[in-house]
Amino acid sequence: MTTTTLDASAAGTWQLGDRTVNRIGLGAMRLTGMPWDPAPRRREDAIAVLRRAVEVGVDHIDTAAFYFVATRSANELIATALQPYPEHLTIATKIGPSRTRSSDFGFEPYARPEQLRDQLEENIRQLGRDHMDLVYLRWGTGLGPAEGSVAEHVAALVELREEGLLRHIGLSNVSAAQLREALTITPVAAVQNRYGLTERADDDVLALTRDRGIAFVPFFSMGAAVPNAVPGAAPDTTGEAEVAQVAARHGATPAQVRLAWTLHRGPHVLAIPGTGNVAHLEENVAAGALQLGEDDLALLDGVARA
Ligand SMILES: NC(=O)c1ccc[n+]([C@@H]2O[C@H](COP(=O)([O-])OP(=O)(O)OC[C@H]3O[C@@H](n4cnc5c(N)ncnc54)[C@H](OP(=O)(O)O)[C@@H]3O)[C@@H](O)[C@H]2O)c1
Repeated sequence: MTTTTLDASAAGTWQLGDRTVNRIGLGAMRLTGMPWDPAPRRREDAIAVLRRAVEVGVDHIDTAAFYFVATRSANELIATALQPYPEHLTIATKIGPSRTRSSDFGFEPYARPEQLRDQLEENIRQLGRDHMDLVYLRWGTGLGPAEGSVAEHVAALVELREEGLLRHIGLSNVSAAQLREALTITPVAAVQNRYGLTERADDDVLALTRDRGIAFVPFFSMGAAVPNAVPGAAPDTTGEAEVAQVAARHGATPAQVRLAWTLHRGPHVLAIPGTGNVAHLEENVAAGALQLGEDDLALLDGVARA
């Protein structure tokens, strides 16, 4: 893919409540490396990714206090690399699950509504801020159907917003029915669900968010191109040939094509590709400038997980 100057605004912007963000952002989960990696990532590499991201216009970073390995945490790396924070930087976090302090990825029981405050305050402390711009109630596992009422937890977030500890409420790993339920209680700025070319179970949530003017923030949207997104997962090769064909037409990489496809799903889609590698970061930002034609989209739209 021929790139001119790297610029995260190439795919346009979205209004996240009172915050304007470029549609290409950064997911922080990969900055530390994953608990099942043989070693953590080098601090200087993670810091370089964060600083380069901001340099090329990334102004939306997705994190969580539960992104850590034994000797690194995503929030601490963000605070170290980016303070004092640029005024235009939007940092989103997720609360609900909490991880045991051990370095595996085991989750403790899900937070009761009154426990969300502690989790939010932990993020604020670690990041060195006074409030969070966007806080997702992270519900189901993201690996199966989302179930249950979110009402009490959403009401707890509304109280925290009234106290000024967060500006905007988001939901993660929720169904369309759960989003509708939340919308009877409060405006919702963003929904973050697993979604991509071969992960289309949430097409209904994508459509509902578009209709309601809510940001849709897919994760694992390069998943099939990247075998280690989930430990032990076999690489999903669905759509590989079609992606390769489109990539060849544009001189792009498969990851760029998958990212560009999600961005073409609607102006409300905000990408948060995760990486701890500067070259990948630059490639992902460049994907925002990739314009897929009708032929490309027709070919890719025919791909779906069996
Ligand atoms: N709400 C939730 O439940 C939930 C769950 C999971 C993740 N998330 C959020 O979503 C973000 C994205 O998810 P993710 O990071 O797990 O998965 P992802 O963005 O789909 O893929 C990340 C993986 O792809 C690799 N990668 C990144 N850019 C690449 C490129 N251009 N070419 C080839 N490989 C590339 C990364 O390795 P390198 O680091 O080596 O580049 C990493 O292994 C996370 O960072 C996190 O903020 C949310």
